[in-house]
Formats: sequence, structure tokens, C-alpha cells
Amino acid sequence: MEAGNLNNSMIHLDGITKIYQMGEEKVHALKNINLDIQKNEYLAIMGPSGSGKSTLMNILGCLDTPTSGKYYFNGINVSEMTDNELASIRNKQIGFVFQTFNLLSRATALKNVELPLIYAGVKSSERIEAAKVALRNVGLSDRMEHKPNELSGGQRQRVAIARALVNRPSIILADEPTGNLDTKTGEEIMALFNDLWKLGNTIILVTHEEHIARHANKIIKLLDGKIETITDVSK
Ligand SMILES: Nc1ncnc2c1ncn2[C@@H]1O[C@H](COP(=O)(O)OP(=O)(O)O)[C@@H](O)[C@H]1O
Ligand SMILES: [Mg+2]
Repeated sequence: MEAGNLNNSMIHLDGITKIYQMGEEKVHALKNINLDIQKNEYLAIMGPSGSGKSTLMNILGCLDTPTSGKYYFNGINVSEMTDNELASIRNKQIGFVFQTFNLLSRATALKNVELPLIYAGVKSSERIEAAKVALRNVGLSDRMEHKPNELSGGQRQRVAIARALVNRPSIILADEPTGNLDTKTGEEIMALFNDLWKLGNTIILVTHEEHIARHANKIIKLLDGKIETITDVSK
């Protein structure tokens, strides 16, 4: 593996392009994206439907690969990683939070939060301890034995956030995390993200709502696959 780039950002995107081939037609979903994300940054990605937000998220989360350009994660070129190295980054370095929570419906909150640790091969007693701490940190100590359908939407998203955090990732990626929540519950979830950011976490969140994006300290607006503006939000 190469020694890495000279840039010491946590994330460094250099000329990232993504083209989807749809039969005869090419869809240019991302066009020459250059972006640096530092440790403990809180970034919101905005833009209209179809502007490339999810495509960018999927590339940042190592769920998809760019057509061209370079992606350095902690100085390492992601395109040169093996499948095992990529899987390890996804499991250990990145915590994912989705609009639809994506919890296992038959498993308790505790079991759902234990899952990433099961995949990581952590032994049972340690796993349970870590999952309890993560649930406590999102204010769900009294709901550990509840299954998703016995929890409110906001509580389900808290379980998903505890699951994203349980193996102490270096970065949290959230795609429209408040999209299925009412305004008040959405604000509670945003307050939780604020707390996580103050504890030193790096957060990247996709949203189309201005009042949600305002919680971040940097807002990127995508338009037609390109970065239209980058705005620093003063706190
Ligand atoms: N798997 C795919 N195959 C073909 N085209 C896609 C695929 N995913 C997204 N696109 C296209 O790429 C563009 C960006 O999509 P997307 O990243 O999902 O935008 P957003 O999340 O901002 O709504 C859109 O034109 C979309 O139709
Ligand atoms: Mg999307």
C-alpha cells in the first residue's frame, strides 16, 4: 500500500466522479468533487433530490466506489484497499444511521446494538457491557429489552445511533436521520448529535431541511453533481 497523500485530513476527496451507466445513457451523478473533512468536523450535505447526496454518502461510507478520482481515508487510498480492508473500515471506522432506522425487528434494543460487535468478534460479556453503555449514552437505559415495535420513532432512532456508536467509529454518517420523525423528536435527535460532536465525534449528515443543517458547522450544497457552495456556520 502506498504511504498515502501529503494531506492529513481525515477524509480527502480529489476529483471524485461517479457515472452510472443506464443502458445507452450515462448519468453523471458526481462531477469532480474536491473535499476535505477534518477530525471532529460536523458537516451537513444539502441539495435537491437527484443532486448526488446519497451517491456521495455511499462513496464516503465505502459502500460504493467512484468512477474516477481519489478518496483518502486517514491518508490511505481507499481504491487500493482489499475487500477485507474495506469491510473492516465499514465495520470499525464508520457508524451508519439511516432515515428508516434499519433495526432488526425481532431483536431487542440491546441485541440490535450488540450486532456490530458480534460481526467484529467481540466476546459476549464485553459486547453486552459495551451495548449497555451505548444505550445509556442515548438515554435508553430503561428500554434495553424492548423490541423496535415497542419503541417510539425517536427511541428507535436512538437505538440506531447507539448501534452506530458502539464500536467507537471515527466517523458517523447519517442519511436524513430525522426524515421519518416529527419536528420535536427530530430536534431531540439533533441535540443528541450535538452532544456526540462535543464529545469529539466527526459527523456527516445529509438533510434537505435548513433547520437541521444549521446544527452543523459546515454546510455543503450540491447541485447537479457539483459542489455549489461551502458555508461555515458560525456558532
Ligand atoms: N444506482 C443508480 N443507477 C443509476 N443512476 C443512479 C443510481 N443511483 C443514483 N442515480 C442517479 O444519480 C443521480 C444522483 O442520485 P442520488 O445520489 O441518489 O441523489 P440524491 O440523494 O441527492 O437525491 C440521480 O440522477 C439519480 O437518478
Ligand atoms: Mg438521497
